[in-house]
Amino acid sequence: MAKRIDDFKITENKRITEDLFILELEGNEELREFKPGQFVQVRVDDSPETFLRRPISIHDVDYSLNTFKLLIQTAGAGTFKMAELTPGETLNLIYPLGNSFTDPSDGESVLLIGGGVGVAPLLFMGKHLLSIGCKPDWLLGFRNKERIIDLEEYKIIGNVYLTTEDGSEGEKGYVTSHSILTERHYDRIYCCGPDPMMKAVGAYCRNNNINCEVSLENLMACGIGICLCCIVSTVRGNICTCTEGPVFNISELKW
Ligand SMILES: Cc1cc2nc3c(=O)[nH]c(=O)nc-3n(C[C@H](O)[C@H](O)[C@H](O)COP(=O)(O)OP(=O)(O)OC[C@H]3O[C@@H](n4cnc5c(N)ncnc54)[C@H](O)[C@@H]3O)c2cc1C
Ligand code: FES
Repeated sequence: MAKRIDDFKITENKRITEDLFILELEGNEELREFKPGQFVQVRVDDSPETFLRRPISIHDVDYSLNTFKLLIQTAGAGTFKMAELTPGETLNLIYPLGNSFTDPSDGESVLLIGGGVGVAPLLFMGKHLLSIGCKPDWLLGFRNKERIIDLEEYKIIGNVYLTTEDGSEGEKGYVTSHSILTERHYDRIYCCGPDPMMKAVGAYCRNNNINCEVSLENLMACGIGICLCCIVSTVRGNICTCTEGPVFNISELKW
C-alpha cells in the first residue's frame, strides 16, 4: 500500500495517567483504510533533539467521523512534546506503515494479550475481530489499578481478564500467571507489550501449540527499511521490523 505524508488536526488530547495520553486526530481528506497492527511515523516539530520521526501504533479508527487515535506513553523528548499538543494543532504523519495482524480462521477461539501501553495496537484489532464475527477475550496486564486504560472500551468487545503487578485489581502478577491460561485453551493469541512479556507469552504458546502473533516495538529511525536499525533475527534471516513487521508469528522469530 502506498505511503502518504499528511497533516492531521488534533481534536482531543485525553490524559489517562501522568504519563499516558490518547490523541484523537482528524484527516483533511477521507481516511484511507488502516489495518490493525499498522503504525504511523510522527514528526515532532519545534524540537531540535527529535530530528527523527517517532513510530506510534494506530490505536483506534472511526471512519464515520474520519478520526483515529494514538495511545502514547511519555518516554523522552518526542513523546513529551506530543503530550503537550492541544486541540486545533496539527501533527504530520507518514502512514500507514508496516504489516498487520492475520485474521483468525473461522471458529477459532482468540485471546488478545496486552501489557501496559502495549494495548495500543490491540484495541483496533479487537474491533476488527468483532466486525468479522469473532468475539475475542482479553487478558490485560498493568502495573497497578491506577494505570488501567479505558477498560470499558475492551469490555464492549469481549470478556476481560486482568492482572496487576501489585494485585490492586484483577489477579496479582504478570499476564502469564493468570489462571485463564491454565483453565482455557485458545486457538490463537495476539500480543503486544514489553519484550520480556511477549517472550513469555511466546514460550507459553509454543509449549501449548497455540498460533501466536506479536507486535514488536524495536527501536526505529527511518521507518521505511533504509537505516537497518530495526533488524530482528528470524528463520528468514535478519529482517527489518518496520517493513516486514511489526507483526510477526512467533514461529518466525529466533527467540
Ligand atoms: C512499531 C512501533 C509502534 C509503537 N507504538 C507505540 C504506541 O502506540 N504508543 C507508545 O507510547 N509507544 C509506541 N512505540 C514506542 C515509541 O515509538 C517510543 O517510546 C518513542 O519513539 C520514544 O520517543 P521519545 O522521543 O519520547 O523518547 P527517546 O528520547 O527517543 O527515548 C527515550 C527512551 O525510550 C526508549 N525507547 C525509544 N524507542 C523505544 C521503543 N520502540 N521501545 C522501547 N523503548 C524505546 C529509548 O531507548 C530511551 O531509553 C512504538 C514503537 C514501535 C517501533
Ligand atoms: S527503522 Fe530504518 S530500516 Fe527499519
